[in-house]
Amino acid sequence: MLQQLLCLSVGAVLISCNAFRQEKLPRAYRNGLVVTAHPEASNVGLQILKAGGNAVDAAVAVQFALAVVYPNAGNIGGGGFMVYRDVDGEFAALDFREAAPAAANRDMYLDESGNPIVDLSLRGQLASGVPGVVDGMVRAHERFGKLDWAALVKPAVDLAQKGFPLTAMQARELNSRKESFTKYNPLGTAFVREVEWTEGDTLVQPELAHTLSLIAERKRAGFYEGEVADRIVEEMNRGNGIISYDDLKRYEAKWREPVASTYRGYRVVSMPPPSSGGIALISMLKSVEAFPLSRWGFQQDSTMRVMIEAERRVYADRATHLGDPDFYDVPQDMLIDSAYNADRMRNMSFSHASFSSDIHAGSLPQPEHEETTHFSIVDQEGNAVSLTTTINGSYGSHVVVAGAGFLLNNEMDDFSVKPGAPNMYGLIGGTANAIEPGKRMLSSMTPTILEKDGELFLVVGTPGGSTIMTSVFQTILNVVDFGMNMQEAVSAPRFHHQWLPDEVAAEKEAIDPAVRRSLSGSGYKLVDRSAIGRVDAILVLPDGSLQGGADPRGDDKAMGY
Ligand code: DON
Repeated sequence: MLQQLLCLSVGAVLISCNAFRQEKLPRAYRNGLVVTAHPEASNVGLQILKAGGNAVDAAVAVQFALAVVYPNAGNIGGGGFMVYRDVDGEFAALDFREAAPAAANRDMYLDESGNPIVDLSLRGQLASGVPGVVDGMVRAHERFGKLDWAALVKPAVDLAQKGFPLTAMQARELNSRKESFTKYNPLGTAFVREVEWTEGDTLVQPELAHTLSLIAERKRAGFYEGEVADRIVEEMNRGNGIISYDDLKRYEAKWREPVASTYRGYRVVSMPPPSSGGIALISMLKSVEAFPLSRWGFQQDSTMRVMIEAERRVYADRATHLGDPDFYDVPQDMLIDSAYNADRMRNMSFSHASFSSDIHAGSLPQPEHEETTHFSIVDQEGNAVSLTTTINGSYGSHVVVAGAGFLLNNEMDDFSVKPGAPNMYGLIGGTANAIEPGKRMLSSMTPTILEKDGELFLVVGTPGGSTIMTSVFQTILNVVDFGMNMQEAVSAPRFHHQWLPDEVAAEKEAIDPAVRRSLSGSGYKLVDRSAIGRVDAILVLPDGSLQGGADPRGDDKAMGY
């Protein structure tokens, strides 16, 4: 019904309306559901749930499986964030973000004239922060896991040892990076072979299998000490890297207090700093709460104006106020305050676009298939995991640790390498996010969980660099304000404004032609953008069953029972 209303009201775009609308309701599952970026990883999670594992057990197994079957973002050489809600409504937030090595310093990516040397923070050994995933998974498992640790790593070991069939998308991506992999891995890697990869080819990763089996056996010590630590330090020495034995030994994932607020009666719980995600998401929700979005309708003229102006204002705050809370005093309470955000929206006009400041920020690069990955899991008891993990860009620094078979992140680029200079997502920052030894670089990752009337309602998150918060924001509005089911909310086209550059980046079908004309006439600069985000989410239906939304922009898959 809502679908018909929406599409009739913008008759000219009937086809694009229908493109993400579901003919029939997505399947609902009674017991448990796993939604990840790769079918093999979803299956690993599902089998763990069926074997009696809980959502955290499944998350640990999925994280390791993704490191094998989705190497552009799944990882053990990067970091991430997990938001967890148990069946009784207790929340926990785990920060396993990478940290700057002890030998890092504020100006390490600048040339003699003080200008950023862009490639240095993006490719090669120097681009890597100290990986956090293995310690993060160990801590998550120690606190909440039920099954034996080794049993959770084992599926990943098997996938690496025996191999798995590449999807068409994966084969294309590996082929397109052959030159770079060869350049940064003179000793060779499993990702490069003479002939081109094609769909269905088996990718076998024996070195990674060995590393994973050490982690299965020795947990944290299997990665941060011994053989794997030796390989990492050797890899650093082969290039320009600075991660030391001491950095590895000292790395610790941290439990943080989740950031929480409400939106139209729903409780929104998300990741606090060092991710900017939770604060920015809540600020955007607070900014639009006073406006009748559901009456205006999905991506209609007024809706678009309010959402864009909210996004613009929140990203301006992000650039100044957010950084690692262990190094910088983040004004969190102010930023998520209802009155503060309502006040920021007061100077918006419905007749013309606001102007972002004049600060030169460079233009948002087209996504170079930058990658992170998110997964959502709900188990039979009703515990929920929302976890986003990354090596930053697609395949991170492109450096595979020789002899250990895993990719290192290029997360150092998420620091502000110079005040006002844009990173690979066009994001700028200043002192709050300057490089310091041991500090964690500011993130946009936004693993989020919503409650309705004290019960689990929505588990959501996405990759997408700077677009992460706006994609999560829009997915929540799609469900709460526009009444979409989970798959529709995930498939619906997206747009993005991040203050600087002062433009609205939009997927092709995101804005109907009449609204486009109206917005352009009011001074909004609209630019086309390929896929924004890959949201994987779970909605709890009124009868308690679970509905998945797996993003059709990738190979993502919902698997439940
Ligand atoms: O932590 C961050 O915000 C970024 N490193 C995330 C990168 C990302 O999402 C790339 N994915 N498409």
